[in-house]
Amino acid sequence: MPDDPTVTPPPTCPVAQMLAGVPQLGEDSFRRVVEWSPSAMVMINPEGIMVLVNAQTERMFDYGRAALIGQSVEILVPERVRQHHRGFRAGYFNDPQPRPMGIGRDLAGCRADGSEFPIEIGLNPIATEAGTMVLASIIDITERQRAQLRLEQALREKTVLLNEVHHRVKNNLQVITSLLNLQADYAADPRLRTILAVSCSRVKAMALTHQLLYERKDFSRLQLGDYLERLVQSIRASYRGSGKRIALRLALPDEEVQLDLERAVPCGLLLNELITNAYKHAFPGERCGEIVIELSKKTTDCICFSITDNGIGLPLDTELAQGSSLGLQLVQLFVEQLHGTAEITRQSGTSISICFPHAHPKETP
Ligand SMILES: Nc1ncnc2c1ncn2[C@@H]1O[C@H](COP(=O)(O)OP(=O)(O)O)[C@@H](O)[C@H]1O
Ligand SMILES: [Mg+2]
Repeated sequence: MPDDPTVTPPPTCPVAQMLAGVPQLGEDSFRRVVEWSPSAMVMINPEGIMVLVNAQTERMFDYGRAALIGQSVEILVPERVRQHHRGFRAGYFNDPQPRPMGIGRDLAGCRADGSEFPIEIGLNPIATEAGTMVLASIIDITERQRAQLRLEQALREKTVLLNEVHHRVKNNLQVITSLLNLQADYAADPRLRTILAVSCSRVKAMALTHQLLYERKDFSRLQLGDYLERLVQSIRASYRGSGKRIALRLALPDEEVQLDLERAVPCGLLLNELITNAYKHAFPGERCGEIVIELSKKTTDCICFSITDNGIGLPLDTELAQGSSLGLQLVQLFVEQLHGTAEITRQSGTSISICFPHAHPKETP
């Protein structure tokens, strides 16, 4: 509550400094301001006796004014905390300072019938001819607390719902994966089996984003490091046969790299294409080598990763988006979707680096 503007405090008091330049009000005006304040206003003397109360105090605590004036302020406090309140009041009068409302204080008022209700109190010392008084302004926060509880409940329900949605999406995608696998078992043509296996791995990469959001219970951001670890595990399992020949190293930064939901799926699919390509094409026959996957956050607003292998190298005529095969065309498409850039380095193998802005361009002012 603002300090009372009507009484002139001693010049050294902080209230006096704040009020410098504010027109002085007479006692009548002061009483009117207090009387019609939307907060309950109670002025007490150093003995804790109520010397002034306003209309809102009568309404809030359900007492007539005559029953309040001259009484100890403790009648407005629940019986269980009266003793504590007396001590607190004495302490406050020893060094009275303006004290704003709220900030984590859990206080209760007590009506004439003994019922309790949550309140917030601001205190202001007022220098008068009869000595220092304290003007307390009190608001009933029952409604605010109810609204807050309703909001918290609604938020909990939404969280449960979102959790369920991600769980179901992940389950449905897993069903699609199983169907594609089953279909592959029935395909006599090995080319068709390969196509089905590649489609299956793309669906798995998508399912993994939902699975991680669901497991982490954070539905707005994906931890890219976590995602990469799990994706690599899954791809490695599909190329089990080459496990001894092809070493894999994952270089993750110390700090977590987070990605919003909108870009998690294209980013996951992009990584899936590039890591799969390295396994599939870089080490034909019995060739041995290493794949290094590096993730970094070069600047606060840029996410970069590179997939490097020391294999046979990308054919010289192969560029992103220009090939007749779907994989690298998809890579180009996802890079554009992420508003990023891709760079191919052909040096003792293949290295493809992708960088994209951390925040979506339309989100930045
Ligand atoms: N890391 C790599 N090392 C060597 N060759 C690669 C690599 N990645 C891609 N390629 C070559 O580029 C071609 C196109 O890749 P892509 O579009 O993903 O198609 P797909 O993987 O279905 O063959 C591959 O067939 C392969 O010859
Ligand atoms: Mg491919």
